[in-house]
Amino acid sequence: MESALDYFTARALLEWQVDLGVTEAMLDAPLNRYEAPKKQPKPVKTPEAEAPIVAAPKIDPVVEAKAAVERVKTLDELKAAMAAFDHCELKKGARNLVFSDGSPAARVMIIGEAPGRDEDRQGKPFVGRAGQLLDRMFEAIEMGREAPLSAQSIYITNVLPWRPPQNRDPLPEEIAMLGPFLQRHVEIVAPDVIVLMGNISCQAVLGRRGITRLRGNWQEAFGKPVMPMFHPAYLLRQPGAKREAWADLLSLQAKLRELA
Ligand code: URA
Repeated sequence: MESALDYFTARALLEWQVDLGVTEAMLDAPLNRYEAPKKQPKPVKTPEAEAPIVAAPKIDPVVEAKAAVERVKTLDELKAAMAAFDHCELKKGARNLVFSDGSPAARVMIIGEAPGRDEDRQGKPFVGRAGQLLDRMFEAIEMGREAPLSAQSIYITNVLPWRPPQNRDPLPEEIAMLGPFLQRHVEIVAPDVIVLMGNISCQAVLGRRGITRLRGNWQEAFGKPVMPMFHPAYLLRQPGAKREAWADLLSLQAKLRELA
């Protein structure tokens, strides 16, 4: 834009502004900010612009999970349905889907929390240090995941099939969206008795925490007797609590005899 000022006047004005503290030129031409804004030209209407904006339907992962298990009848189908479920972010960071271990014919179904590093690597629940302790605990009442007879065997799964990052606690929404899979899991295995390992499993199955008070007291869920116990990882940190765990195992043994 050509200036109406001569060079010396323009320079004098500029120096005056610099003296006043002006450091930046914002616009080429002065702008009167007190003036009413000019009307914007009306946008040209195209068919796309006229179309009503339709929000993408919001996906409820719990509803999706319920739909995913609706027709599931076998453990293989359940595993496939879980593997195909894409609404849980944990799946993206996990190496493996950790489904279960032990015998599906077992009378006892153990529900743990979620896979850790070793379980994520091997694709099997309770194979790390806590898992080794779990095996020793059940061996003490002559039961185990490798036992050939259903009377002595156990079946093991977790609330979540994918490892949470840095082994953080599962989030309530993760527990909720995997809930329909867990429920179908229990229905298919149809154990006589369920053991809940630790607070997260109690939260998922009983809807409450407080393992110190819950443990050792028979509850009911999925229409089955349920025994909350200290998680073996807790027992590794607090070996003094093994006394209570032993009492709970004896109570489990007595319940199995009673139901036989
Ligand atoms: N802790 C759990 O709760 N589950 C596992 O599979 C391993 C550790």
